[in-house]
Amino acid sequence: MLLDEKDKNIKQLQSSPPVSGAGGLNADAPGHVTGKSIYVDDIPMMEGMVFLKIYDSPVAHGIIKAVDYTTAEQVDGVVKIFSYKDIPGENQIGGIVADETLLADTEVHFCGQPILIIAAENEDAAEEAIHKIKIEIDALPVITDPRVAFAQNKLLSPSRKFKIGDAASAFTQCKHVFEGTAETNGQEHLYLETQGAYAYPTEHDSVKIFSSTQGPTQVQRTVARVLGVSMNKVEVDVSRLGGGFGGKEDQASAWGTMAALVAYILKRPAKCILQRMEDMRMTGKRNPYSSDYKIGLDEDLNILAYETTFYQNGGAAADLSPAILERTLFHCTNSYFIPNVTATAHSCKTNLPPNTAFRGFGGPQGMFVIEAAIDHAAKSLGIDATVIQRKNMMDDGNELPYGQIIKNSEARNCWDEVTGKYDIGKIRNDIIDFNAKNDFRKKGMALMPVCFGISFTNTMMNHARALVHVYSDGSVGVSTGAVEMGQGVNSKMIQVAAKTFGISTDRIKLETTNTTRVANTSPSAASSTADLNGKALLHACNQVNERLHAFIKTEIAGNIECIVEIRDERVYINDEATVYNWKSLIQQVFMKRINLSAKGHYSTPVIHFDKTIEKGHPFAYHVYGTAIITATVDCLRGTYEIDAVYAVHDAGTSINHAVDLGQCEGGIVQGIGWMTMEEVVYNDEGRLLSNALSTYKIPDIYSVPKELTVQFLNTDKNNLAILKSKAVGEPPLMYGIGAFFAIRNAVITFNPASTIKYNAPITPEKVLMGLYNQ
Ligand code: MTE
Ligand code: HPA
Ligand code: MOS
Repeated sequence: MLLDEKDKNIKQLQSSPPVSGAGGLNADAPGHVTGKSIYVDDIPMMEGMVFLKIYDSPVAHGIIKAVDYTTAEQVDGVVKIFSYKDIPGENQIGGIVADETLLADTEVHFCGQPILIIAAENEDAAEEAIHKIKIEIDALPVITDPRVAFAQNKLLSPSRKFKIGDAASAFTQCKHVFEGTAETNGQEHLYLETQGAYAYPTEHDSVKIFSSTQGPTQVQRTVARVLGVSMNKVEVDVSRLGGGFGGKEDQASAWGTMAALVAYILKRPAKCILQRMEDMRMTGKRNPYSSDYKIGLDEDLNILAYETTFYQNGGAAADLSPAILERTLFHCTNSYFIPNVTATAHSCKTNLPPNTAFRGFGGPQGMFVIEAAIDHAAKSLGIDATVIQRKNMMDDGNELPYGQIIKNSEARNCWDEVTGKYDIGKIRNDIIDFNAKNDFRKKGMALMPVCFGISFTNTMMNHARALVHVYSDGSVGVSTGAVEMGQGVNSKMIQVAAKTFGISTDRIKLETTNTTRVANTSPSAASSTADLNGKALLHACNQVNERLHAFIKTEIAGNIECIVEIRDERVYINDEATVYNWKSLIQQVFMKRINLSAKGHYSTPVIHFDKTIEKGHPFAYHVYGTAIITATVDCLRGTYEIDAVYAVHDAGTSINHAVDLGQCEGGIVQGIGWMTMEEVVYNDEGRLLSNALSTYKIPDIYSVPKELTVQFLNTDKNNLAILKSKAVGEPPLMYGIGAFFAIRNAVITFNPASTIKYNAPITPEKVLMGLYNQ
């Protein structure tokens, strides 16, 4: 592609159509573009601060016979080297399962596992010390493949099974039955800001930590456990993250705890920021999955039965993998209604860094398998996969394998809207035409529907709190448990407060996320941050409003029956403007000694789930959408381009079009990256080979689709979404799965005998092999 053509692509990306009436506030953007936004590494250093470096395991599995760091500790500038023996509390950071040490004790379980912390006056000294550490390890067998781990019964958590109907007997009724395997690889989060934390000791034997974490409370809890102190001695503060994508939901805790440990023991400030290669080596990624499927259809192409087994590569510790495994099961039938399903999932223990949350949280891995199964059936029957997809789309009243009944389904609406608006027939004919005319370039198309459940799958986690202060000058300070990581939640929180008070967004300052102001938070994750924290904030603002309205009625109107409204910063009584504006009202209220602060709490109603029977109603609602993806494959080189992604996405009633569109565009490109080019590679010894940006390719601006448009299906049925604006963070990533099938379809057009597997990512190497194998 010529450069000017590429520039044109960039413009197209920017010009997706706006939706009328939705706000465009982006509270963080000015700070980002002027470089004023504060990240952990921008916090001014305090006097006496020490820098931390981590000495991590050079092998993937073994018994530590001896570690010698006496010469390392003598390096000029080194203050102290910490081993597990220096931990005053418990050497344990596991969230769901207590199976992960902060610092390795006698055994190492993965390459990159932290063993020692070097605290030094400067980074050079710490670096020099690392090279002077001597370690003796007796190697043990290394497992990197989840199926091998399963065969040896190495599991991180009990296996799970979701079941509806009777798949085994339904298969006997099926006209067509197909079986196969499907694989998806890991994905490096590659947040721009690497993992890190800054901690300093405070009085009363306490510690304060600035952490780049999605879960401030998780860091607080872990620090308390490792230091052996109560949670009230640990304060965690988060201004924002330069991206998290799930990689900082649980895995930020280790670095925060290391900084806190050193600060607590040395009584000096301590900073621990990973370099990119350290981050890539030491942290877990999206869980790779290897899966089996069996799909059965009747003669009218209704999917009657589906059986699937997921082998999740969990890595060396459970981390969030058991919860991710659960979400894979929840999404194993994607947007389809299948009356007989048996889905089994195993979380397998391997010698890789513990894999973890990544946008979609296991959902994408589950959806890929059903899409592969449908594609397999379609190819074998000689029909287009879209016929089976459309035919089996879920409808209201359908029961999902986990017992929830579908309500307000937009699955068909999104599908029909996108196929109509972008004229699927014409796209298909143009592709047939193009392929007939070109011998060595072939185009392919795929449709990717998405149905994603909104709520933490762990019901207990679906709650949040917010604290609002209206100051006597009319300005407002808002604190919630929400962490801004680029997803725009700060903007949405400001909008909720402004709308509820009837005032300008300019009056509102969003404070940092802090465990002392807002306690016991769930991590910012599961796409639920705006819903949970927004609803809590709404409650807080409404409490203040009630007091303001009571004051207006009694003290200004002298009539408790009147109708009061604050709109555009003006006080209205019975729809008539008064002389009072927001500022003068607040002054009066303050003079009357009325409480201008409130704390709001929200916990999602309706949801429940019983793990003993694997049934319930775990999600507040579902988000729907469908994308059309087209790609062109260069059949001489095996390279490809994504030509277009057209998506119709159910955003509810979006309160921030710019933010929601950004989430869709970013999610789609990230999903395409996972499906097509990002290749996490470990060798058989469990060493990461794709350990830098030179060996791990993520999408850049030139690999985004040439055309990318997202149309919102504006719906208004979901009261559990904040101001009916549905969660948007994760679902769009899964549209990217369509890129895999679009490319694969082009390959098969070129080589109908191709044996190209359902094995993602579909890299140019795999494409080239697929183009020419027999
Ligand atoms: N967008 C940006 N820019 N950066 C991120 O780190 N994380 C994603 C998504 N979008 C992420 C993002 C993930 S994994 C989740 S769960 C949601 O945002 C979390 O935010 P939300 O709950 O406010 O949607
Ligand atoms: N999504 C993201 N993070 C989580 C979830 C979930 O469903 N459950 C627990 N942590
Ligand atoms: Mo997102 S994977 O739930 O942090």
